[in-house]
Amino acid sequence: MGMIKDSKSTYIEGSSSDEFCKTWIYELDQRLGGGIPAGNTVLLVGSSGTGKTTLSMQFLMNGARNGEAGVFFTITEPLFKLTKNMEKFQFYDKKLIEKGMVNIIDLRIISDRLGLDAEKYSVEDANALLDVLKDIADELQVKRLVIDSITALCYRLQSKELIRDFIFKLGSSLAAMKCTSILTSEVPPDKLKYSQYGIEEFIADGIIYMGDIDRRGDLIRTLQIIKMRGTMHSRSKTAVSLSTAHGIELIPLLKSSR
Ligand SMILES: Nc1ncnc2c1ncn2[C@@H]1O[C@H](COP(=O)(O)OP(=O)(O)OP(=O)(O)O)[C@@H](O)[C@H]1O
Ligand SMILES: [Mg+2]
Repeated sequence: MGMIKDSKSTYIEGSSSDEFCKTWIYELDQRLGGGIPAGNTVLLVGSSGTGKTTLSMQFLMNGARNGEAGVFFTITEPLFKLTKNMEKFQFYDKKLIEKGMVNIIDLRIISDRLGLDAEKYSVEDANALLDVLKDIADELQVKRLVIDSITALCYRLQSKELIRDFIFKLGSSLAAMKCTSILTSEVPPDKLKYSQYGIEEFIADGIIYMGDIDRRGDLIRTLQIIKMRGTMHSRSKTAVSLSTAHGIELIPLLKSSR
């Protein structure tokens, strides 16, 4: 079937299947062999400014446009700043937020309401937060969930055991709900590391790495699928174009000039 690109830079080709959760970013779905296997927990890793927040929001907006509700938990950026930045992108549709198809929730406000310590979460705190996340995902009947970022959340969880437990429980309850999740992970540039705490990547079903390469003084954004359980995927590095008109697009490395 031919590919049709609409004004929002998504494509229409058949429909979403039960097997795959499409990002509706054409080249990314192609590389994924159809999309993210439904129910997978994906770690979206990258250093600062590589496009993690943009790709995650595009994933939710595209999903919502195709009938799947989603929730975006922000912990690094305050809600007003996040929406102010995202509003510039054409894929961002305020109406989908008003309709409740994309829900943006500030995790710091939730943890305040739960009376949790802003800096340090105990086991009980982590469990309370996990329960709230599950309840929200359940109540809104979301098929897509984003936590931006898991690094900031893990920072508050203190011990490796707590982090492991938290991500594992989160992943399994979301998978049971057939909810596909993207957890963003911040890493320093030029380090072959997929997570700050060294355990997030073992629990995740998939890892997508966003990086930069220096080409004659220009930083080119790149993307590489490191692993994705349940699908045959490309493992080669590709360049990323980030624009307000099309959001994130993947382009061949050789052709990239921006
Ligand atoms: N309107 C825009 N048009 C084109 N590029 C933009 C626009 N707004 C932001 N950008 C680019 O996108 C980058 C930020 O992307 P994004 O916030 O998705 O990255 P990130 O990986 O989430 O970064 P961080 O680690 O800071 O959270 C900016 O550094 C800028 O280069
Ligand atoms: Mg970000």
